[in-house]
Amino acid sequence: AQLSPVPQVLDGKVFTVTAGPTREALDPVRYITNHSSGKMGYALAQAARALGARVNLISGPVNIQAPQGVDVIYVNSAVEMRDAAITLAEKSDVFIGCAAVADYRAADISEQKIKKQGDEMTIALVKNPDIIAEVAALTQNRPYTVGFAAETQDVKKYALGKLKNKQLNMICANDVSQEGLGFNSDNNALTLFWENDQQSLPASNKKELALTVVKAIAGKLGLPSV
Ligand code: CTP
Ligand code: CA
Repeated sequence: AQLSPVPQVLDGKVFTVTAGPTREALDPVRYITNHSSGKMGYALAQAARALGARVNLISGPVNIQAPQGVDVIYVNSAVEMRDAAITLAEKSDVFIGCAAVADYRAADISEQKIKKQGDEMTIALVKNPDIIAEVAALTQNRPYTVGFAAETQDVKKYALGKLKNKQLNMICANDVSQEGLGFNSDNNALTLFWENDQQSLPASNKKELALTVVKAIAGKLGLPSV
């Protein structure tokens, strides 16, 4: 059967997408992480590729296959993700920060396995770099910068706060308090926010949503709509 060709509106554009969780080591055998599956970020990378972009996908540890035709850079920690992100963002037209970056990492990574001691223990943590804020603060070759916000309450308020504080062009917000949506699920519902505009996308498959998000970005870049 003949497949109808997808219009290559992103031909010549470079996208960099972060996806998945980060993994912050405590010692050689333990780490701090979160439940991000990477599905949304991988779907965004695949959607941008399908519309003709060259795509770098900076991925934390996940269990999904790399989309065809996408360059994948595997990282573990937030610091590793930041270093890859800054290098690639400077060469990109669009940066999408979809990764669930750990907000903190261990102040010291123990070289040896930490031994069990008293009945209580405390781990000192330090704040990780804010990757997307660093990308948005680039003074040369700054890409169109798109963030994500997963919230359990006051979704619009927090999303707009992040849009402003991190100086993003756009933020995709999802309400993770809704059963069966968001983290680890195949489905998601998003509201896209810009400084002076918003668009609600009903609950749908992450692959479909990703295509809609990438088309919305293309529209904001002034590319012909698809
Ligand atoms: N982000 C990032 N680097 C971090 C933390 C977050 O790049 N160290 C990015 C995420 O990839 C996402 C956006 O910032 O695109 C919002 O992430 P979120 O965790 O919702 O925001 P935080 O600023 O970390 O605030 P909080 O977790 O307190 O809600
Ligand atoms: Ca966070």
